[in-house]
Amino acid sequence: MRQAGRSLPEYRALRVGTAMLDACLDPALASEITLQPVRRHGVDAAIFFSDIVVPLRLAGVDVEIKPGVGPVMGAPVRTADDVARLAELTLSDEALAPVTEGVARTVAELGSTPLIGFAGAPFTLAAYLVEGGPSRDHLAARGLMHSDPSTWRALMTWAADVTGAFLRAQVLAGASAAQLFDSWAGALSLADYTGHVAPSSERALDAVRDLGVRTVHFGTGTGELLAAMRDVGADVVGVDYRIPLDEASRRLGGTTPLQGNIDPALLAAPWPVLEAHVRDVVQRGRSAPAHVVNLGHGVPPSTDPAVLTRVVELVHSL
Ligand code: CP3
Repeated sequence: MRQAGRSLPEYRALRVGTAMLDACLDPALASEITLQPVRRHGVDAAIFFSDIVVPLRLAGVDVEIKPGVGPVMGAPVRTADDVARLAELTLSDEALAPVTEGVARTVAELGSTPLIGFAGAPFTLAAYLVEGGPSRDHLAARGLMHSDPSTWRALMTWAADVTGAFLRAQVLAGASAAQLFDSWAGALSLADYTGHVAPSSERALDAVRDLGVRTVHFGTGTGELLAAMRDVGADVVGVDYRIPLDEASRRLGGTTPLQGNIDPALLAAPWPVLEAHVRDVVQRGRSAPAHVVNLGHGVPPSTDPAVLTRVVELVHSL
């Protein structure tokens, strides 16, 4: 899950003196960071070390990841003119070369362990672009979709194409699965999601449709959106920690594989509490046709890495 590496001392050592997005765009560094949690915890798959805003940077958007804050834009994208200027930026294969090279190196090193490629969904990217940075309620983005639907549509189409190109480059370079992160979709009503967002998420996933890899679609606070997020054409639905997996499976008609949903907060609980929770997650996951065990959101940086290793061992024993 996102930022898994932050709890590792070997990650923090490697990152000293290198800005987050510079680390993502250094193929050797990105590859080494991707491998660290696999070596240490023995997980069954790796997720590529990158970030959802990497394709924005590669397309020429002025974006930075500020430590402890998240993605911050040089200027927010709010008007029809802003979007028209943005839409002139394209993401070429040459610009994607650091990503392609990072993935190819990683896949070669991983051997038989699969690599998950990922990208941000258009809404989550648009939310950062319109707000200019992290936001609690995404008022500016949600406002734009209603006050100027055609500008919103142009923004979402651009975001879908750029993020789709980023995802496709990872799969072409050897990633075995593709995950779309719509982290802030939970801020939306179902009607806004289906009317103003889902078509662009489908467009982003279409970028890898012909490549024969499985796709995972994840959001936080998306208990009401699970079926709609599946229906954009995802094979697996990622579930955050807010609803139990048996309930998620029920909402999906019992036919959709799930990924999730150990509560990150419990990583700091006494082991017997965490162990009972992990067993419960695995048990409830059995109500879905298949279950990929992971966290219901990111690893807190303060997590004891030994606890993560123990969770992996427990899950394997089950
Ligand atoms: O775990 C991994 O390292 C996998 C790679 C990965 C990162 N970001 C690396 C990263 C993935 C899959 C992401 C996705 C991502 N990035 C999402 C979607 C998933 C989710 O968490 O909801 C989002 C919304 C972002 C945007 C972003 N990037 C945020 C909000 C932050 C946190 C800022 C902070 O410092 O609290 C980042 C930074 C980031 N992305 C880090 C890493 C390893 C931390 C950088 C550091 O401090 O070393």
